[in-house]
Amino acid sequence: MLDWLTEAEIAVILADAAFSEAEPDRAALLRELDELGYDENTAETDVVAAAVHLGNLLREEIRSEAERATSPLFHRLVLAKIDSLGARQQPAPAVGADGTLFGVPPLPEVFVGREGDIAHLRARVNPDRPRSGGMPVVAVRGWPGIGKSTIAAAVARDATVNGWYPDGVLWAGLSEAGDVRGQLGSWFRRLGLGPLEVTDTVDDAGRLLSGRLRDARALLIVDDAWTTEDAVPFLVGGPGCAALVTTRMTEVAQQLDAENYVLPELPDTVGMELIERLAPSVVADDSGGIRELVAELEGLPLALKVAARLLAAEHHLGWGVSDLLEELHEGVRLLEAQAPADRADTASGTTPTIAALFAKSTDRLAAENRRQFAALGVFAHRPATFAHEAMAAVWQVDDPRPGIRLLVARGLLEPVAGGRFQMHALLAAHARTLWAVK
Ligand SMILES: Nc1ncnc2c1ncn2[C@@H]1O[C@H](COP(=O)(O)OP(=O)(O)OP(=O)(O)O)[C@@H](O)[C@H]1O
Ligand SMILES: [Mg+2]
Repeated sequence: MLDWLTEAEIAVILADAAFSEAEPDRAALLRELDELGYDENTAETDVVAAAVHLGNLLREEIRSEAERATSPLFHRLVLAKIDSLGARQQPAPAVGADGTLFGVPPLPEVFVGREGDIAHLRARVNPDRPRSGGMPVVAVRGWPGIGKSTIAAAVARDATVNGWYPDGVLWAGLSEAGDVRGQLGSWFRRLGLGPLEVTDTVDDAGRLLSGRLRDARALLIVDDAWTTEDAVPFLVGGPGCAALVTTRMTEVAQQLDAENYVLPELPDTVGMELIERLAPSVVADDSGGIRELVAELEGLPLALKVAARLLAAEHHLGWGVSDLLEELHEGVRLLEAQAPADRADTASGTTPTIAALFAKSTDRLAAENRRQFAALGVFAHRPATFAHEAMAAVWQVDDPRPGIRLLVARGLLEPVAGGRFQMHALLAAHARTLWAVK
């Protein structure tokens, strides 16, 4: 009987059930035993029942071990499980319904510029680039709405990059809510690791993923990380993988062991192209006014897209756009407008305003830092750059450095040349609205 129970096929059924916290499948056991020559009608012992009993013991054992994530036995079982998955030739990682792109969002219908940025990021994930050991990680950061998620999707869909990573792309979409377990669970299912069990800690999940990706050649993308802890469990690829993380938070980009890339504003010519493609008749009517607006929106695709939509709607009504352009100069009209449809919140089915997207960053500030941020908006000119001394005066503090440090860490202020600090024009407009309601 012992021989039967330790046969590879039987062991796999028992181990699978134990890991999934389920009863072993009696029918499957009987089928396998049948093939091994077992006859339930003539046998003296009920081997199926014995196998089920053994499976249940194993499950109990795993459950108690799983509570001690550092236990060597747990570790060994986990690795054995991975090997058994490999031996049974689970599909290679990341060949999803959508080709080899798992969870990668589509590119916007009108996608402009970014050739240089894509080339830069492509070079960073090139597997022929000398690697100092583990998986290279690139952190893409930049202003809210600058196009971080979009460029990550463009890299994920780049034909050359796809050629380098035949096991495909795995995309984890985080957010300020940081659904780490949910996203880990979907990577688990994608990689044939079964469901993420309630008893699996995030560390356990990371270990399992790391085993599964040990020999893979896949591009891992962690989009919209708000904390380092949220991103780390996904950064477990082997040396044949590369990872991109996008984040608004400068501190997250810096804390990760990653090469940082600050995604720049779109040049005005490209901003103009974007509006021209989204609202061609408006540009034909008043290219001078639009050019001025594009310069004021400082290359933020989120704002350019929304402005184009508002202008096209106004134009469609047969009205001139000069009044609207006047309002758009102030920024408030844009902040209160809905973001583009691709920024809809899938959970609630609603599309936030630009102000709500910015507020995700400013709501997290402590009251004092939010007040400091708001004060900078009131005092901002175009472009909104500030000297250290001016900030000390506006904030009425002797040493403005802690406040500056914090706003830079949160991606709301950026050091520029000459020891000055810059805030994006639309963030400055957002800051003014915060000041008004203060
Ligand atoms: N190169 C581009 N061409 C056209 N539209 C773009 C481009 N880049 C971004 N967009 C659009 O701008 C909007 C903001 O882009 P995206 O969501 O990628 O910004 P983000 O930096 O990831 O923002 P967040 O900080 O909120 O995560 C989206 O509607 C997107 O479709
Ligand atoms: Mg994003």
